[in-house]
Amino acid sequence: MQVLVLLLWTGALLGRGSCQDIASNPEDSPSPESTGEPVEEEDPFFKVPVNKLAAAISNFGYDLYRVRSIESPTTNVLLSPLSVATALSALSLGAEQRTEATIHRALYYDMISNPDIHSTYKELLATVTAPQKNLKSASRIVFERKLRIKSSFVALLEKSYSTRPRILTGNPRIDLQEISNWVQAQMKGKITRSTREVPSGISILLLGVAYFKGQWVTKFDSRKTSLQDFHLDEERTVKVPMMSDPKAIIRYGLDTDLNCKIAQLPLTGSMSIIFFLPMRATQNLTMIEESLTSEFVHDINRELKAVQAVLSIPRLKLSFEGELTKSLQEMKLHSLFESPDFSKITGKPIKLTQVEHRAGFEWNEEGAPGTSTNSDLQPTGFTFSLDYHLNQPFIFVLRDTDTGALLFIGKILDPRST
Ligand SMILES: *[C@@H]1O[C@H](CO)[C@@H](O)[C@H](O)[C@H]1NC(C)=O
Repeated sequence: MQVLVLLLWTGALLGRGSCQDIASNPEDSPSPESTGEPVEEEDPFFKVPVNKLAAAISNFGYDLYRVRSIESPTTNVLLSPLSVATALSALSLGAEQRTEATIHRALYYDMISNPDIHSTYKELLATVTAPQKNLKSASRIVFERKLRIKSSFVALLEKSYSTRPRILTGNPRIDLQEISNWVQAQMKGKITRSTREVPSGISILLLGVAYFKGQWVTKFDSRKTSLQDFHLDEERTVKVPMMSDPKAIIRYGLDTDLNCKIAQLPLTGSMSIIFFLPMRATQNLTMIEESLTSEFVHDINRELKAVQAVLSIPRLKLSFEGELTKSLQEMKLHSLFESPDFSKITGKPIKLTQVEHRAGFEWNEEGAPGTSTNSDLQPTGFTFSLDYHLNQPFIFVLRDTDTGALLFIGKILDPRST
């Protein structure tokens, strides 16, 4: 038995060599030039314009996630960076050169040569918000009261992002009501009504909202869900409803550099979740976080191997409502908050003042209609099951498998809190 275990684990080890130079920080890994290694051929996957764009904005998403995670070292993080990237990309249509370049750098557009980025963006949005994906995502640009904006900007916005900007009336009650109604309409009522006031002193406000409820390809048997221990860290333990499957088929790999166990579970609509679970219970997930890039996650995903596992996952229902203003100021975007050039929008000097995000995310036992649970099947070809228990802090990444786009990212330190 011991030999089998070793073989299986070795088989599931991740070969990190192939992704090292794109995955790691430039500071701590030598560049291919300095080691004399040949520069790698680009993966054909990234030659498809929509996938290339998805990789770029997902890299923005991982950057935003890292900033958020540093800001909240002891609490969960939930983020749908796509909706924020979309609002920024749309805003760039109204930016003159210097300001446009700032936004393009933050979204990694400077790394892609695509003369028609906004049409490609439209294609990406259509793909990831197709009904079978179960993702709702919407973005909006809100302008200061009574601002006169150029019709050419409105037309561009409608063409590529199918959205109309909102100009505030200056009446806080009416403005709150209107924004709230818009969120409800976009999210089909899946996100609760906000009680937050419309912030004062708005010049440009970006709003990104998203909601996702996962449907597993293989549903969980709800009779197997029970209260189980979740280790908040090495000392503290709480009880949470944990779903389980004694004979799950997962795609798995052990990353010895990051000291974490990685697993992928498919969802309906060509979506999947990748879990990053450290070998021991810790709230410090910095090492994993620092390696997250589109290219790294893409490579990981390809290298995972199907295994049979005794699987447990906490039932999860998370929401986030708040400002990302400070986070974006800490990224490469602070000049947008100072004296940007939005003269394609209006003659008046305006600047970004607030970035708001609302997100809802959940999974439970539900899976594709008509599927049976794994435990009813008799899996063949697996002589050994490994244990995969998400019973301590972990990171999850929700991706669209077709384009590789990052749709949600979460740091779960305590599944009980929303
Ligand atoms: C978290 O871990 C990283 C390296 O893994 C370390 O550099 C850092 O100091 C740790 N942070 C805290 C707050 O312990």
